[in-house]
Amino acid sequence: MSTLKAVRGTRDLLPPETALWNRIEATARTVFARYNFGEIRTPIFEDTALFARGVGEETDIVSKEMYTWEDRARAQSEKTQTLTLRPENTAGVVRAYIEHKLGETGQLQKLYYIGPQFRRERPQKGRYRQFSQIGAEVIGPPSSGSESPLRDAEVLDMLASLLDELGISGWTLHINSVGSSADRARYNETLRAALIPLAPQMCVDCQRRAVTNPLRVLDCKIPEDQPIIETLPKIVDSLDEESKNHFAAVTAALDMAGVPYTRNHRLVRGLDYYTRTTFEFTHGGLGAQNALLGGGRYDGLSEAIGGPKAPGIGFAMGEDRLVLTLQALDTLVAEKGHAYIAPLGEGMNPAALALARELRRAGLTVELGEGSFRLKKSFETAEKVSRRIVILGEDELASGILTVKDFATGTQTKVPRAELAAVLAAPANA
Ligand code: HAM
Repeated sequence: MSTLKAVRGTRDLLPPETALWNRIEATARTVFARYNFGEIRTPIFEDTALFARGVGEETDIVSKEMYTWEDRARAQSEKTQTLTLRPENTAGVVRAYIEHKLGETGQLQKLYYIGPQFRRERPQKGRYRQFSQIGAEVIGPPSSGSESPLRDAEVLDMLASLLDELGISGWTLHINSVGSSADRARYNETLRAALIPLAPQMCVDCQRRAVTNPLRVLDCKIPEDQPIIETLPKIVDSLDEESKNHFAAVTAALDMAGVPYTRNHRLVRGLDYYTRTTFEFTHGGLGAQNALLGGGRYDGLSEAIGGPKAPGIGFAMGEDRLVLTLQALDTLVAEKGHAYIAPLGEGMNPAALALARELRRAGLTVELGEGSFRLKKSFETAEKVSRRIVILGEDELASGILTVKDFATGTQTKVPRAELAAVLAAPANA
């Protein structure tokens, strides 16, 4: 029988890597809280129509990449529904905003989420079929200030701070404005016309995009096409005054706050709901899939899925890519536990459990050895996982004085049991 494996594009995350995932999530939660965001958890599957209407029928995500199935009715009261594993979380958050009438509070909603998303893409490094996003959305009725360029700048400032706090150095923030949906439609036609004489000299994908979705030509990575793409009209020339002013206010706030960015005229993003500000943070260490995160404004999304006017802005970070970047930066030091308890003989096992319990209750990370081990094996095992080893034999138990060896300094000391927790809590080398 062939062995069963995780499905292509999915993977298991194992320790010690999961510790890094947890650290990233804990840091994100801490930073989000400072900006007054609260957590939202939406279902992993939704009505397919939500993504078709929200993200856009013509986008790659909806037209090619969704995991969709017919969910058969199980009772007369039920209808057969077409459901989809969420490919992204913004549409779900906005659906929840509408469903729970959060707009009626009149308050700006600042919501974050952490969780799996699903896209049937061609798997490669940094691109998976199940991946995890850490994202946030700021949304509310216009009276809550949700349209203000200050909100855009605050979100970007939060992201820059989060990446810095995670220790991700060397990121680049690319920003652009795609204007109102009317601006975008106008630009699409300008591009379509400009591409008519140029497309035949471009790659086959661009030849197709020139007809079906001219904006996507700007995403082309083929080196030979780049000089041609550089000559194409820029979206900035199709923006109305309001969009231009909005963008100028965002960049002015970023300048004042000291958040570095580069203007990228080609950043139009692959989801239909974007209006005005769009952005991506990239990192050179990632290779072809170099976007750490992406986001932007979606002032018309709520209305597109049947809700009230509720401008918003948000982002999603690829958590898998944050992990890859941190691993590549090589700044990670494996965290070792405080102590390894080595019982001398199986008869000492219960006493060792009692000692481990005492220390763990004092907040220490403790690994418990096995009395059948020879002392040499205990030392070897202990050094891999802990900073210190505590020897527990008949004499130690009777006297209440334990032998502690510090692996960093190589020194061995006698410590009274009452002082043990404090000694083990002290940094190694101290
Ligand atoms: P997105 O650009 O499609 O935007 O995805 C955001 C991020 O998710 C990407 O920059 C990347 O880091 C990560 N990502 C996307 N696809 C994959 C994949 N197959 N494997 C690994 N990582 C991936 C959105 O999803 C929008 N909902 C962002 C947003 C929120 N805009 C406004 N609010």
